[in-house]
Amino acid sequence: MIEIKNIKKTYETPSGKVEALKETSLNINKGDIYGIIGYSGAGKSTLIRCINLLEIPDGGEVIIKDVKLTSLREKELRKSREKIGMIFQHFNLMKSRTVAENIAYPLKGKGLNKKDIDTRVEELLSLVDLKDKKNSYPSQLSGGQKQRVAIARALANNPEVLLCDEATSALDPKTTKSILGLLKKINKMLNLTIVLITHEMQVIKEICNRVAVMDNGYVVEKGEITNIFSNPKENITKDFIATVLNEEKEAEIAREEDFENVYKLSYVGGKTREAIISKVSRDFQVDISILYGNIEKIQDTILGNLLVKVEGESSNTLKALEFIRKEGIKVEVIKDDRYSKLYSA
Ligand SMILES: Nc1ncnc2c1ncn2[C@@H]1O[C@H](COP(=O)(O)OP(=O)(O)OP(=O)(O)O)[C@@H](O)[C@H]1O
Ligand SMILES: [Mg+2]
Repeated sequence: MIEIKNIKKTYETPSGKVEALKETSLNINKGDIYGIIGYSGAGKSTLIRCINLLEIPDGGEVIIKDVKLTSLREKELRKSREKIGMIFQHFNLMKSRTVAENIAYPLKGKGLNKKDIDTRVEELLSLVDLKDKKNSYPSQLSGGQKQRVAIARALANNPEVLLCDEATSALDPKTTKSILGLLKKINKMLNLTIVLITHEMQVIKEICNRVAVMDNGYVVEKGEITNIFSNPKENITKDFIATVLNEEKEAEIAREEDFENVYKLSYVGGKTREAIISKVSRDFQVDISILYGNIEKIQDTILGNLLVKVEGESSNTLKALEFIRKEGIKVEVIKDDRYSKLYSA
């Protein structure tokens, strides 16, 4: 649906060149809620702004539904851009216009009569659940309500793609949840492809099916959300995941635990693992105690992490861990002098 091929962007500033986006390629499928996460300055906004060519990349191609945007002339580009809505952190509403007028704005000059416009505005108001605020001004709305107006306005021309640049960063957690809920709803209802920038892994976890992690102008890791959460490769990805998986607590317990032979078992999927633990304990004559457990639901997939202590003959422990790994459970050594070379992830 969206193909980004080898685009890059360098800004010339008085103090020199800034390579905001190094050579980047991404494929986004129809119906994806694709998250882009990274720290401030990573290049996220530059990347998303290259998708609708608000920023013209220095090289490479942006192709949406087989149309090569990077080759279009100004007039054709304007037409194509109508199919790409965008919302921002600070909503960007017109202060002197009412909610209805803000939403109607992109419908002007399209050959629609007043009645058609009114009907469409009513539809959009009910979609974002703001019917009663129709005649209010932006200053009379809460942040969440302002973002709902911005979403309605972005959807006015029935776009196929919605770009969201930190759309929830100015909102409290509860309002963030309700806006994410609305994005999820329109994604399903309208089969709308959403590209969403954030610096919060919680947001990614909540609604995205795929994610790209950006660092210093590069996409350093990308993939399906459950794969990334269960098997992150880069340290920066691990750090982001730690913010939602309560790993600080886990590390604290591991540090406190005096004994040797503490391992972390991670698994994906809803299958219960207790049977495996008791089987291993029986078959290999080891005692396994659970020090800490955390089960997260990422979209519809269960991700489990167990911190366990294994006591027994060292050869049995080794065999037991090998068996667990063969069952598809990831085993990481947290504390183990003897086997750390064999098992460190
Ligand atoms: N118009 C510009 N002129 C010069 N430099 C820019 C411009 N826009 C962005 N940059 C620089 O490019 C780099 C990437 O910026 P970008 O806004 O894409 O980051 P970001 O990941 O969106 O950050 P944030 O989370 O703070 O919004 C930064 O170093 C920034 O200072
Ligand atoms: Mg930004």
